[in-house]
Amino acid sequence: MVRKAVIPAAGFGTRFLPATKAQPKEMLPIIDTPVIQYVVQEAVDSGIEDILIISGKGKRSMEDHFDRNFELESRIVEKEEEALYNQLRHIENMANIHFIRQRELNGLGDAIYYARFHCGSEPFAVLLGDTILNSAIPVTQQIIDAYEQYGHPVIAVETVPHDKVNRYGIVGGEKLSEKVLRLTEMVEKPDIDKAPSNLAIAGRYILTPEIFPAIEQTIRGKGNEIQLTDALRIVLKQEDIVATIIEGKRYDIGNKLDFLKTTVEFALKRKEFAAPFAEYLKEIVKGL
Ligand code: UTP
Repeated sequence: MVRKAVIPAAGFGTRFLPATKAQPKEMLPIIDTPVIQYVVQEAVDSGIEDILIISGKGKRSMEDHFDRNFELESRIVEKEEEALYNQLRHIENMANIHFIRQRELNGLGDAIYYARFHCGSEPFAVLLGDTILNSAIPVTQQIIDAYEQYGHPVIAVETVPHDKVNRYGIVGGEKLSEKVLRLTEMVEKPDIDKAPSNLAIAGRYILTPEIFPAIEQTIRGKGNEIQLTDALRIVLKQEDIVATIIEGKRYDIGNKLDFLKTTVEFALKRKEFAAPFAEYLKEIVKGL
């Protein structure tokens, strides 16, 4: 059973500067909800009870967000805004949320290494803190199901256009079923003509404790960072890893254009904004 999740959220967010100079990109709101809350909700909706957020310098607001704020609550009670009050209480009670600080930003592999004592001998989910996945069945649930079926680490992958494979971590392998592959290779941002497939790593993983010694052996790679993909390649030498082609859409909000698209798409899904916002967009499009 997968009960624990790790959410790496310590990164600098350089692609989103200057907004991320003094605030975490994981706290940027999509309409009225910070990105990290969508990520935590996905974990909770997938049955996760215990979450470790890998935090870092300048990221205190994430801790405050999931903490109780009595002053704010009492103000809202006075105003008799019950729905809002319940929403605030929900945030504090979503799961057991713990924080640990990544002292130096040495990459995603290094960030996950901070979870070794927290996860102990259990398998755990990894959800990138800057990536929202919108799907009917939560993507973390989809890969937990695959873990339970195959008993090996699982990487969520999505199909991307062939001419964009050089922007992603790409996997190659043998098909075990329509949606599942047994991995044979993983390449970070391959040249378009050298990519083993057009299946891109989608920011969700189920890992086993074998990842920790593999991270210890991983030498610094791209960007002089300890890359998770390199550590997974070490694991792959010892045991099978499967990839599941997920059903859902990925939004990388660390990228400004994706952030804009996410805001528009999510606004169109919100009951209170859908109609007036669609009207507004139609007007804008007419003028283009
Ligand atoms: P990214 O590579 O997208 O984050 O990592 P980044 O380094 O903040 O991005 P840019 O390129 O500077 O804009 C994916 C996730 O992993 C976390 C990030 O916070 C993000 O949620 N991460 C990355 C860490 O926790 N520690 C790291 O050392 C690197």
